[in-house]
Amino acid sequence: MPEPLDIQFVPFNGEMAPTVLVLADDGVALGAAAKRIDERSKGQLTKAAGAAEFKGKARTAIEVLAPAGIESRRVVMMGTGGTKTEHDRLRLGGAAYAQIGTRKVETATLVADPADPGQVSEEVFAADLALGALLRSYNFEKYRSTKSENDEDDKRNGLRTLAIQCAKPEAAAKAFAGRRALAEGVFLARDLVNEPANVLGPVEFAERLRALSSTGLSIEVLDEADLKALNMNALLAVGQGSVRPPRVVVMQWNGSKSKRAKPMCFVGKGVCFDTGGISIKPAGGMEDMKGDMGGAACVAGLMLTLAKRRAAVNAIGIVGLAENMPSGTAQRPGDIITSMSGQTIEVLNTDAEGRLVLADALWYANDRFKPRFIIDLATLTGAIMVALGKEYAGLFCNDDRLAKELEAAGEVTGDKVWRMPLGKAYDRLIDSRNADMKNIGGRYGGAITGAQFVQRFVKDTPWAHLDIAGTAMDSGRNEINQSWGSGWGVRLLDRLVADNYEKSEK
Ligand code: BES
Ligand code: MN
Ligand code: ZN
Repeated sequence: MPEPLDIQFVPFNGEMAPTVLVLADDGVALGAAAKRIDERSKGQLTKAAGAAEFKGKARTAIEVLAPAGIESRRVVMMGTGGTKTEHDRLRLGGAAYAQIGTRKVETATLVADPADPGQVSEEVFAADLALGALLRSYNFEKYRSTKSENDEDDKRNGLRTLAIQCAKPEAAAKAFAGRRALAEGVFLARDLVNEPANVLGPVEFAERLRALSSTGLSIEVLDEADLKALNMNALLAVGQGSVRPPRVVVMQWNGSKSKRAKPMCFVGKGVCFDTGGISIKPAGGMEDMKGDMGGAACVAGLMLTLAKRRAAVNAIGIVGLAENMPSGTAQRPGDIITSMSGQTIEVLNTDAEGRLVLADALWYANDRFKPRFIIDLATLTGAIMVALGKEYAGLFCNDDRLAKELEAAGEVTGDKVWRMPLGKAYDRLIDSRNADMKNIGGRYGGAITGAQFVQRFVKDTPWAHLDIAGTAMDSGRNEINQSWGSGWGVRLLDRLVADNYEKSEK
């Protein structure tokens, strides 16, 4: 496994690496430390900026090689103009990492003295840049054995140590600790999504989560016999075509000062591979269905983050893990199953399996923990991508306050959600003649009928369903993510918790 990027916070005016990155705001406005470097080089930096018509626009950059009066080999000047929000600062940090990466160096110095840090303190500014760089540095290359270290064409970023010069290094390091916990959660989610299904089946997924108990999470793994005893027949039906047995994992974090505080519950769809079952999917693109456990991956990542930063809340994470395969033991279209709730389901399409997994996982979560709210995450429908593309996850919610909190957290983190409708008329579309419900609606509104199905298993508990089929994987590379598995949702939910459910405890 490659070492993660080592980030250090150091004071201004110390030693600088051969590659230095300084920041310039709109109009090439420099902070004090960058100004001093410019002065030492007799104004070479600002002169070069003029020659290149560099204006300081966010994430644009110029490079000054062999500057006079400075021992470093090069100074990269990167624009910060227009940087306002937290997400902007993360993107800036990611862009800085990428700028350094094209120079093929192992160490670099980032001089984080913005001419104007915006609404935040200098240490928060530095810590956000660090998080952005760290998130950008993630890659999934454990199965590439040809590490072409000397290959000229190797596009990989070899940066190992990033020293960030800033006004208050100790305060910045402290602010970064929680962000590092966040990055660890995002990386776990990305790893789980990227891992191929031959390596990561339900049993292996559960074992990886069991290993998280060293962080202080309490972990229970329910095996097939446990699931049978609980009557989780919907979840079991999804897994019955596979030789690899299903699992449910319960993760608990009890960080609240009041032990009896009602927990919040996060539930994830963990279909480790979705062939569609007997209603089999076409071959083209089926490999992407190794990521059909993106909801479970996000829940695992979130729980890891909450534990690592010792969040002052009580939170439960539950993942339903199964592999949806066609075989002689697989469920058939037309089968009628009795879910844990007692409600019966006519399975008209075995490819609408995620909702079956959620049905039992949600019922169990609600029944056992009586949570203050439940949020489920699932790569549930292709239809949500028809509706929203890959920019927003679909948000379905029976509680306006929770919906607003999620929308607000989405805006700050950039993990954006778009609220979709729920209602009786949609709900009727999944009524069945032969059972309490069927697992598919008609031709239209597929993401909504999927959500209506899920809602039948949460009673009146405040609940939100996030359809993340478009965002959990293959959602496009950007400044803070270069990986197929995006880790979408970990930052969203950590922010939801921190902003709305933790402050009152502090
Ligand atoms: N896992 C898929 C949804 C999906 C598709 C996620 C593409 C990510 C990318 C889900 O289990 C599924 O197959 N849904 C069906 C539902 C239909 C049969 C009602 C779909 O979207 O076609
Ligand atoms: Mn499916
Ligand atoms: Zn699926």
